[in-house]
Amino acid sequence: MRKGCRQSYAAVTTAALPDVCLLRSDPLVPELGAGHSCASYQPYLSRDVSDTTNLEGRTALITGGTRGIGLAIARGLGSAGATVVVSSRKEPAVSAAVNDLRASGISAHGVLANVGRMDEAMAMVDRAIDLTGGIDILVNNAATNPVFGPLAETSTEAFDKIMAVNLKAPFEIGKRALASMKARGGGVVLNVSSVAGLSPESGLGTYSVSKAALISLTQVMAREWGCYNVRANALCPGFIRTDFSAALWTNERLSASIRAQQPIPRWGEADEVAEMAVFLCSDRARFCTGAWYVVDGGFMIRDQFATIRQGPDAGTR
Ligand SMILES: NC(=O)c1ccc[n+]([C@@H]2O[C@H](COP(=O)([O-])OP(=O)(O)OC[C@H]3O[C@@H](n4cnc5c(N)ncnc54)[C@H](OP(=O)(O)O)[C@@H]3O)[C@@H](O)[C@H]2O)c1
Repeated sequence: MRKGCRQSYAAVTTAALPDVCLLRSDPLVPELGAGHSCASYQPYLSRDVSDTTNLEGRTALITGGTRGIGLAIARGLGSAGATVVVSSRKEPAVSAAVNDLRASGISAHGVLANVGRMDEAMAMVDRAIDLTGGIDILVNNAATNPVFGPLAETSTEAFDKIMAVNLKAPFEIGKRALASMKARGGGVVLNVSSVAGLSPESGLGTYSVSKAALISLTQVMAREWGCYNVRANALCPGFIRTDFSAALWTNERLSASIRAQQPIPRWGEADEVAEMAVFLCSDRARFCTGAWYVVDGGFMIRDQFATIRQGPDAGTR
């Protein structure tokens, strides 16, 4: 039995369930017995949900929050009222992002850290807590992909580096932030994975493995931390126009081929990913945990033969 968690299955069914409509003869929860009736049932949808994106009073730590998707998420969470802490490896990038966010009226702080180095990652979490008083929302967004090519030609060093930044860091940072979330009565973890975590991308084998494992880590976090009122979800962007993917979108032939295959035939923008992130980090997603959410213009249901069928101009429409 886990300390601090529910004491038993019986306790779960009696303590954790709200006053819902349960028949006394329900064979699944016989221990509920008398005292629970349809009369006290309050349909959830009857509540006012107009302000559930409001994140005022909450704090968010976003790794890799100084550009691209991470900065867009920081801006989205900050615009919804959260105090944000953005982190990355380069001081000028951290300062620029903080100034940029503050110029938009967002309460923002910056912390310098390479999350591939666990001592720096732990110090980052502690500093974020010092700056803000605690962490309600953790966005594990920083990732790396130093190699492109087949697994057989991928060095052990490259494999270890990818796993350290993309998988071990979210694991360690998540555990460190959990203590703060528990103390505050709950929280949200959002792990930025990729469509490559759902189906491996050519030439991005080890990266794909790291992102698939990150989805699994997210599900384990959700299962084990739900009892602390902590939700965990994974976000799977498709092809989004950032520095990270510049090698693809600056190559017109490759880019046109990708666009041609997607039902929405264009590259995604970082703020389109941030929209989903803000939803998942807000109370609007209060019943969402342990799942992955794709923002990909339909890439996962792409037409792989579109380029062949439509000829060399495919994707340029
Ligand atoms: N763009 C896409 O098409 C796409 C698709 C699927 C998934 N994703 C995922 O989305 C996330 C963000 O990607 P992006 O496209 O926004 O990338 P990006 O524009 O290259 O931004 C990456 C951010 O992470 C920081 N960073 C990189 N390595 C770091 C490290 N070891 N420690 C701390 N910070 C680090 C960078 O800042 P510094 O250089 O200053 O450290 C930067 O702030 C990643 O998890 C990526 O795998 C992206």
